[in-house]
Amino acid sequence: MQSILLQQINNKPILEQFQFLAEKFEGKIAFSTSFGQEDQLITDLILRNNIPIKVFTLDTGRFFEETYDVWNKTIEKYGKPIQVYFPDRDEVEKMTSEKGPYSFYESIENRKECCNIRKVHPLSIALKGIDLWITGLRAEQSQARTELEFFSFDESFNTTKFNPLKDWSLKKVVDYLHEHDVPYNSLHDKGFISIGCSPCTRAINKGDDIRAGRWWWEDKSKKECGLHDTSDTNVQTIELKKTEFK
Ligand code: ADX
Ligand code: SF4
Repeated sequence: MQSILLQQINNKPILEQFQFLAEKFEGKIAFSTSFGQEDQLITDLILRNNIPIKVFTLDTGRFFEETYDVWNKTIEKYGKPIQVYFPDRDEVEKMTSEKGPYSFYESIENRKECCNIRKVHPLSIALKGIDLWITGLRAEQSQARTELEFFSFDESFNTTKFNPLKDWSLKKVVDYLHEHDVPYNSLHDKGFISIGCSPCTRAINKGDDIRAGRWWWEDKSKKECGLHDTSDTNVQTIELKKTEFK
């Protein structure tokens, strides 16, 4: 059975979906960007069309220079702010003083600790008061994402998640960026597809999994950083839990 939200946006073009949802979740809707190809597409739709959706990024402090470049080009092009959330200074100082700058290579626990401090904790702050969180996730990005829904309730952050690009292919995303002259991360031209922090991302070879360059030293099954819990429940649950929106 389709959820109410899904029925409401069904058959609408993506831009109209955003317009509809921005009105429905007025002041309580946000989009998270890491400046990857999918995120740049969504940013273009939101900022070019002045849709009132908060656009924010979690600056882990370990981004590539190329990521800062595309971030800067984006604010220059659209002339709109992108809100940034940094990790808690005490947490970063404690972890790095005790374990050094490359602790994440030593164990999965250390890697998750770093992702928690640099991404997950800041995300929980960014999502305070937000009822609809938009992401650039696509189902074909990994095995773990094949079951992705358009809408799901994220228990960890107590918010509804909307994944509008769920069924988009990478080609369709890239074509959109070229057609609309959207700035993109120059690393995409150098064999990088999925881009995260610089010490934890590398280029991939033709035929590799899209996310093979992320945390490449770890088991495939463990490659999520905690931003996207794959045990999200279906949106039907949230229609019962969240009744404040219009
Ligand atoms: S991750 O969990 O492995 O890092 P991925 O890089 O595939 O995620 O990105 C998926 C989506 O998560 C992006 O489209 C974006 O919405 C969000 N995201 C990932 N990293 C960040 C970040 N540093 N800041 C804001 N949003 C992010
Ligand atoms: Fe830390 Fe790497 Fe996770 Fe970035 S991706 S937060 S550097 S472990």
